[in-house]
Amino acid sequence: MTNIIDIHSHILPGLDDGAADMEESMKMLRLARRQGITQIAATPHYSAGFPNICPEKIRELCRKVQESARQKLQTEFYIWPGQEIMFGNDVVHLLDNKDILTIADSRYVLVEFLPGVPYSGLLRAVRELVLEGYVPILAHSERYICLREQGRIDDLKAQGAYIQLNFRRIGGKWYENTTRWCRRMLQAGKVDFLGTDMHNSRERRPETAPGIEWMQKHLSRDYIDRILSRNQKKVLADEKI
Ligand SMILES: [Fe+2]
Repeated sequence: MTNIIDIHSHILPGLDDGAADMEESMKMLRLARRQGITQIAATPHYSAGFPNICPEKIRELCRKVQESARQKLQTEFYIWPGQEIMFGNDVVHLLDNKDILTIADSRYVLVEFLPGVPYSGLLRAVRELVLEGYVPILAHSERYICLREQGRIDDLKAQGAYIQLNFRRIGGKWYENTTRWCRRMLQAGKVDFLGTDMHNSRERRPETAPGIEWMQKHLSRDYIDRILSRNQKKVLADEKI
C-alpha cells in the first residue's frame, strides 16, 4: 500500500509524549515512508498533561519537520498541523478562539477521551461539537469501553461523529478482544479512518503492514482505500465525507 494519509501522529519533536527530538522525528518518518505513508497530520496532545503547546509552535514545527525530511531523508512529506484534543468543557470555546487546532484548519477535530468515559459523555461531546459546526473524529475509538455495546457506534455516527481506529489493533492477535472488536467494526463498514498514533521509533512506531495484511484478506479494495486515504483527503480539503 502506498499513499496512506495518517491523521493521528505525535511526530513533532519535543512537544508532548511523542518524538523527543528532531532526530527521532526523522526516524519515525523514515519508518512511516516504508509503511506507505506520504502525508501526516501532526496531532500533539491538548490535555492537562501538556499545557504549553500553542498553535504557532505547532505550525512552525510542521514546517521544520517537513523541511528536515526533505534535506535529511530526501523525501517529500506533507506535514499538516492539528491536535488531539482531550474533550472538556472549554474545548469548543478554545476552538472558536483558535487557541487549539482542528486538523489542517478544517472543521474536523480529532478528539479523545479517557478510556472509561461514560457513553453519555461521548454523546454530549459529539452533539456539542456538531452543534458548533465542527466534525468530531473520535481518536482511537477502540479504547472506549462504552462503545463495545451494540448500536452505540451507529448512534454516534448518526449524530455526526466519525470513527478512527489505530492500525496496531487491527494487526493484533486474533484472540485479543480489542482486535476482534476492531475487525468486526471494519467488516461492518463502521470505521472511517485508520491512524498510526505514532509516538516514537520503538514500541509506538508507525506500523501499518500487519493491519493491512489482515484487511486485504477480509475487506474490499474500495473500502480499504477509503479509510486509508480517500476520507483523509476530504478532511484535508475540508470537504464533506
Ligand atoms: Fe494520539
